[in-house]
Amino acid sequence: MTHVLVTGGAGYIGSVCARALCRSGYRVRILDDLSTGHAWAAQRTGAELRVGSMTDPEAVANALRGVEAVLHFAGHSQVGESVRRPDFYRAQNVGGAEVLAEAMSALDIDKIVFSSSAAVYGEPETVPIPETARTHPINPYGQTKLDAEERLTSAGLRVAALRYFNAAGAASDLQLGEAHDPETHLIPRLLAQAAAGLPFTVFGSDYPTPDGTCVRDYIHVEDLATAHVAALEALLNGWTGEAINLGSGGGHSVLQVLEAVRAVAGDSPITLQPRRAGDPPSLVADTTRARRVLGWTPTHSLSDMVGDAWRWHQSGPPL
Ligand code: UFG
Repeated sequence: MTHVLVTGGAGYIGSVCARALCRSGYRVRILDDLSTGHAWAAQRTGAELRVGSMTDPEAVANALRGVEAVLHFAGHSQVGESVRRPDFYRAQNVGGAEVLAEAMSALDIDKIVFSSSAAVYGEPETVPIPETARTHPINPYGQTKLDAEERLTSAGLRVAALRYFNAAGAASDLQLGEAHDPETHLIPRLLAQAAAGLPFTVFGSDYPTPDGTCVRDYIHVEDLATAHVAALEALLNGWTGEAINLGSGGGHSVLQVLEAVRAVAGDSPITLQPRRAGDPPSLVADTTRARRVLGWTPTHSLSDMVGDAWRWHQSGPPL
């Protein structure tokens, strides 16, 4: 049985992926400091949980013993917070990658699937965005993801740098899902607003997009999990790794998402607010490489994502 380390496996995407790996027959160890992840989520994956920090070389080296490959999700992921605390983001996200790269090299482990982000592209010149597009992050979060990709690659590791677009939805059996505090993401915020009878907040309606609101590429978290299992299998079969976009390949505006939310959670009035700092108008993935290299095709629609997120919201995550 292949033994893998999943860092950040108590978080939203990490826990769904850790469970998918267990179900695919891998033996999984999670390393998570539980600063933003949850012990209940790790417990629901079927993996072993070790509590420890990515910036603690001893904890990382111990967690790596006996594993053949790593899936590195651990990191901080709020764009707004990264603007306020750039040094903290650098220390955690880039520092964590450096500790991991060094410890993996020392133990001759060279296969890693890394949680990168569409934030590495900044404001793209062309949409849909291919992996060959210029990387030019416009916030510290995106810069830390790009720098972490570079640290892992320059350490000589075989790196599948999976650049997520907008992860959404929940596990269909409602065991795992998004539980952020504070919640900044569009879909869970709109669902909570609908449930509380509060107005929907739309940040910016004067973008150069068809309806004036930002366009994003939403991808179901279970589709992300399938891609991670495929990337790990490819690395184990000799693939040397590269950057790969993970999105559905289609864009939805904030108003289109709002319509999907209305359909399941009911209506509320809309409050148009000013643009949120650092939001690019449109981010949509060119997914050609993911389909070709990983043989991966996402299977969930926007209404699946919103529907699963709504049922997860209603079921009440055990916070
Ligand atoms: N938005 C609203 N109202 C809200 C919340 C968000 O209008 O209440 C808007 C945002 O302004 C943005 C869009 O909805 O235009 C999507 O916002 P999210 O916060 O859900 O997602 P982002 O696109 O800002 O960021 C996400 C991840 C990042 C990642 C990025 C890459 O959170 O980590 O996708 O595409 F870098």
